[in-house]
Amino acid sequence: MSNRVLIAPSILAADFARLADEIAAVERGGADLLHIDVMDGHFVPNITVGPPIVESLKKVTKLPLDVHLMITNADAFITEFVSAGADYVTVHVEACPHLHRTVQLIKERGAKAGVTLNPATPVSLLQEILPEVDLVLIMSVNPGFGGQKFIPSALQKIAAIREMLDRLHSPALLEVDGGVKVDNAAQVLAAGADVLVAGSAIFSSRDYAGTIAALRAAGQPASSTMAHAALHR
Ligand code: DX5
Ligand code: ZN
Repeated sequence: MSNRVLIAPSILAADFARLADEIAAVERGGADLLHIDVMDGHFVPNITVGPPIVESLKKVTKLPLDVHLMITNADAFITEFVSAGADYVTVHVEACPHLHRTVQLIKERGAKAGVTLNPATPVSLLQEILPEVDLVLIMSVNPGFGGQKFIPSALQKIAAIREMLDRLHSPALLEVDGGVKVDNAAQVLAAGADVLVAGSAIFSSRDYAGTIAALRAAGQPASSTMAHAALHR
């Protein structure tokens, strides 16, 4: 298990008509990163937001922007997303035939570079690029929609990437996205994740701060969680 736990609310599940308020609420509630899902209707069967929204959000939050590109031609948009304020730009291995070039481009533009895999894509595809990246994202649902069910085989992939990163002494973050809830967060963290993306788990809950705290607490051994609860009774 890694000893840091970062929580990245996905705005896909937020109320888009009240985005600034929703973001302020998760920021107050202890979020560490803001996960922004960019979909193009080609790589995934859904369309969401582009650089202008990222630029607007940058003005209303201090949280680092974690931009997950689910688009076919990432290279053509990286400069724009970084200028708009993306701190992390994560691209799909399946959509980037020249992944090394794409990762270099993200870093040259001044952002941190992330790579990600669909549920059916083997972790071995990341072997060569791992030393170059700042973040690895394991998809635990097929990308395209929020509110889907966690695919359990992601756990083995998280553990395998954790091992590969540790072997390299890499400081890269290991992030997990899709179907992460308070009741499976402990397993995801035990497998070696550092960053939990959570859309519906947070934005469909009544108490964003409470849900963020519960997700984070899933990373602590049961005894210390109980001690913490006892302390705050
Ligand atoms: C799925 C997106 C996810 C999604 C997660 O394509 O990449 O970030 O918003 O939503 P939940 O947490 O509801 O599964
Ligand atoms: Zn995502």
